Amino acid sequence: MAMNSASAMARIAILGATGYTALELFRILSRHPTARVVAATTRQTDRPLISSIHPSLTGLFDLSCENLTPEEVGSSCDIAFCCLPHTASMEAVPKLLHAGCRVVDLSADYRLRDPASYQQWYGHQHTDAERLSQAVYGLPEIFGPLIPPASLVANPGCYTSTSILALAPLIAEGLIDPQGIVIDAKSGISGAGRTPKLSNLYSECNESVTAYSIGNHRHTPEIEQVLTDVGGQAVQVAFNPHLMPMDRGIFCTIYPRLLRSGTQAELLSLFRRYYAGQPFVRVVDHIPATKDVAYTNFCDITVRFNRDQLVVLAVIDNLIKGASGVAIQNMNLLLGLDQRTGLLGC
Ligand SMILES: NC(=O)c1ccc[n+]([C@@H]2O[C@H](COP(=O)([O-])OP(=O)(O)OC[C@H]3O[C@@H](n4cnc5c(N)ncnc54)[C@H](OP(=O)(O)O)[C@@H]3O)[C@@H](O)[C@H]2O)c1
Repeated sequence: MAMNSASAMARIAILGATGYTALELFRILSRHPTARVVAATTRQTDRPLISSIHPSLTGLFDLSCENLTPEEVGSSCDIAFCCLPHTASMEAVPKLLHAGCRVVDLSADYRLRDPASYQQWYGHQHTDAERLSQAVYGLPEIFGPLIPPASLVANPGCYTSTSILALAPLIAEGLIDPQGIVIDAKSGISGAGRTPKLSNLYSECNESVTAYSIGNHRHTPEIEQVLTDVGGQAVQVAFNPHLMPMDRGIFCTIYPRLLRSGTQAELLSLFRRYYAGQPFVRVVDHIPATKDVAYTNFCDITVRFNRDQLVVLAVIDNLIKGASGVAIQNMNLLLGLDQRTGLLGC
């Protein structure tokens, strides 16, 4: 039975509880006044205590991770967070929904509306394609009113949230050329998750910076889809991600072509008007740094001119505003709560 009342305690399940985004969900939910974690899943079969998987949760949760089926999870909770890799999520989501809960999916499986685009960028056929048009894209600053009645929220990607929030006011006002927007993006290593990979070993990435997936990064169609929705005309970006030798954080330096004249002060005012009343976007005068937003749900944005070239600068914490913080914002909206509940001070 889905829960609608903001007054009762919401029962929360976390699938893929051993990973990084799950850890951040646990941290935030440990302070949440009206949500309680009732189930946590793993493929491990020895029922590990959550504190043995994530030692920083010691004393905060008395809970074991279990190898539960989506049906078992879905019938025992009000909201399930899928912290699973793509393709694993689309296996679980239909069963969770059928069992009666609502879902916030942190993977990419329900972010693209077009199944052909999913197949092109992810290299797999979508096995739940008919549900793609029902999923609501969970970026509250853009799609807030659509989220409260949703059954399935597709939580955005981390690079995508940063890029979209940095460009939406300019696209919405028709101030920039929607084609050929260059996004130079940098991410900390935790953006790739806790599951070990050769390229993420300390000895591979420490004291080194590299670019990757130039021309074929999977966040490209997601950024283009949402910004096309915002502006009502096709947006095309050149998205260039880099791996930085730091734990967490996203920094985007974006080069749009301004179609009209404007000053830094005018553009900052435009951004402030666009995000008025949005508690987690801070339009700042200074150049932001990833440290300013580490462990918080804030996205900090500013603009500069380099001669005639407009430069937009934006930062988030990939695991909070880029994943679990915005997932809690979405959960709050699904539950009819103030979207800041549990998130201020994190
Ligand atoms: N990291 C970020 O900054 C970030 C940001 C935005 C979105 N996301 C997305 O959020 C999702 C979770 O990311 P994460 O960083 O938390 O990943 P992670 O640290 O690698 O954790 C994923 C968890 O999913 C479980 N899992 C792995 N393969 C599975 C499979 N085939 N079937 C079922 N369960 C499986 C694993 O748990 P067990 O081995 O215990 O079963 C693993 O701990 C991903 O889709 C990712 O793309 C991540």
